Amino acid sequence: MATSEAVLQLLGGSLPSLFGSDNSFRKLGSSHSSKSFIRYRKKRGPKFVNFLNCSNTRRPVHGNIAHSYSRSVKCKCQQADSASSIASEKGNGASWFVDNDQSFDTINGNTPSILQFETVREAKVGEEDFQSNGSLPPNGSVQDVLNRMAGNSLEDEAWELLRESMVYYCGSPIGTIAAKDPNSSAANVLNYDQVFIRDFIPSGIAFLLKGEYEIVRNFILHTLQLQSWEKTMDCHSPGQGLMPASFKVRTVPLDGDDSATEEVLDPDFGEAAIGRVAPVDSGLWWIILLRAYGKSSGDLSVQERIDVQTGIKMILRLCLADGFDMFPTLLVTDGSCMIDRRMGIHGHPLEIQALFQSALLCAREMLTPEDGSFDLIRALNNRLVALSFHIREYYWIDMKKLNEIYRYKTEEYSYDAVNKFNIYPDQISPWLVEWMPSKGGYLIGNLQPAHMDFRFFSLGNLWSIVCSLTTDDQSHAILDLIEAKWTDLVAEMPFKICYPALEGQEWQIITGYDPKNTPWSYHNGGAWPTLLWQLAVACIKMNRPEIAAKAVEVAEKRISRDKWPEYYDTKKARFIGKQAQLFQTWSIAGYLVAKLLLANPSAANILITQEDSELLNAFSCAVSSNPRRKKRGPKSSQKTYIV
Ligand code: GLC
Repeated sequence: MATSEAVLQLLGGSLPSLFGSDNSFRKLGSSHSSKSFIRYRKKRGPKFVNFLNCSNTRRPVHGNIAHSYSRSVKCKCQQADSASSIASEKGNGASWFVDNDQSFDTINGNTPSILQFETVREAKVGEEDFQSNGSLPPNGSVQDVLNRMAGNSLEDEAWELLRESMVYYCGSPIGTIAAKDPNSSAANVLNYDQVFIRDFIPSGIAFLLKGEYEIVRNFILHTLQLQSWEKTMDCHSPGQGLMPASFKVRTVPLDGDDSATEEVLDPDFGEAAIGRVAPVDSGLWWIILLRAYGKSSGDLSVQERIDVQTGIKMILRLCLADGFDMFPTLLVTDGSCMIDRRMGIHGHPLEIQALFQSALLCAREMLTPEDGSFDLIRALNNRLVALSFHIREYYWIDMKKLNEIYRYKTEEYSYDAVNKFNIYPDQISPWLVEWMPSKGGYLIGNLQPAHMDFRFFSLGNLWSIVCSLTTDDQSHAILDLIEAKWTDLVAEMPFKICYPALEGQEWQIITGYDPKNTPWSYHNGGAWPTLLWQLAVACIKMNRPEIAAKAVEVAEKRISRDKWPEYYDTKKARFIGKQAQLFQTWSIAGYLVAKLLLANPSAANILITQEDSELLNAFSCAVSSNPRRKKRGPKSSQKTYIV
């Protein structure tokens, strides 16, 4: 759509109801959940059933082209006899590696059809890596070689563990389990034996970077089917379009046949999760992974499928629906993202906003233009502009901005208020005055009326760089801050989930005395190795990969020796986390993705989104010619970050 039109729409105020006129969407929405299918093979031999289990509270629903999909699954089931060999090294002989000749042509866009997918070659990128292990590079010093070998053996170990974490459904790989500690008893497992959507992202990216596409494709399509499930908590259903936080493959007795079993996918949308938190980030990550899959494999047929297009629209519809909110940021409850328990991040937490922007940009690239999606794309464009303006303008802090806040007047009732959110300067905590470096800055964790959460949240800041939610200058300033505050954010293990920790009364009130989130532990200032991969993408985007490389080096000193923990505790990340799982898959995959991307930085493009300069320019022009804004005087017109 024309950019200027989107901007005018935004400035003009009201939007038409998002889907009011979108009949085709309604049609798709209903057919999206129309068919079901069951596939299984006779018992006594290997037997696989592919259907979504039906219980009192859940109804099986399937994509409207389930037929073609089921054929693909059936095919998998036949291959599954040899599934045990799947994890064999280098993929030779593994059932999902097929002939090299049949690799599809990503350059010319020759993608296989859905039904041909079984014959798609999973590129053996890894083979070259393995072969190069033993040979000396022409000019390398012995130390270089030793370092590289050490690095490679760590990578080999990580790959082995990642493959061991793979979860199969009907004999096909469908995801990776959250943690797989061979020495852990079932009682310690909690829900770490599930496939978490957010945890799978680095696993999926690692597989994509290795040229192994099938597991990612299966994950995308199966979780899409779960999206349509009816889910309730105490008779209340959350919005359609919600993706589960996690799912488990269960083997259960087949109805009416005691001697047979079937595999079912059992999702958790938060109705069983600790604290009953809704996983807002799942759908956003799903869209981001879908785009990465298409860009990496060249197989655009998945994102073009009608059920996948409908899935994207359902997520967007949920996120873009009108509510009571005055802000363009997404309003969510506490614990709706990686930090999935009470940590005082309800409202408009940065992590969700960064993923929101990223998902909007990815979705815009993938939505196939059709009459029915016109309103949706217009709403999406409007939201993108408003969201990035809001975050760049109001979430950003550095020395200069902090000093401005320090001198804020309060209780301004007017359109021209400088202190729009009525922030009381006393909110600037003593730690921040000390902590803010003279060079550098960051996006605060949350903004609400009369409330700025000044904590530094790593994932939100890193992903804001990746999806261009920040300007170039701001992105560099965040990396400057990371360098300046290395001993606080990295120390002995990358990377602090947030800084600083809540302590004393603040911890009591904000976490509700949470013993898992004590100061400098877990979500409350713990260090999470998985964040390495987001750090790597952000650094590569800004052409400063050396920062991420340094962090990887720090991690390599102990991550394998410590058995790939989920998180580390203490201010300097010296201890393995109090209740940390060992062999945590996203710690393993996060490390691998960081290594793979640093070795091949251009591959990071599958995750990076650039800002739409046309849209921003149009917005900038419109803002400067808006008489209401002009009245605010020179200060406001100088302040815009949009250029
Ligand atoms: C914890 C983390 C969450 C993660 C889950 C599984 O609950 O907070 O982000 O998805 O473990 O690893």
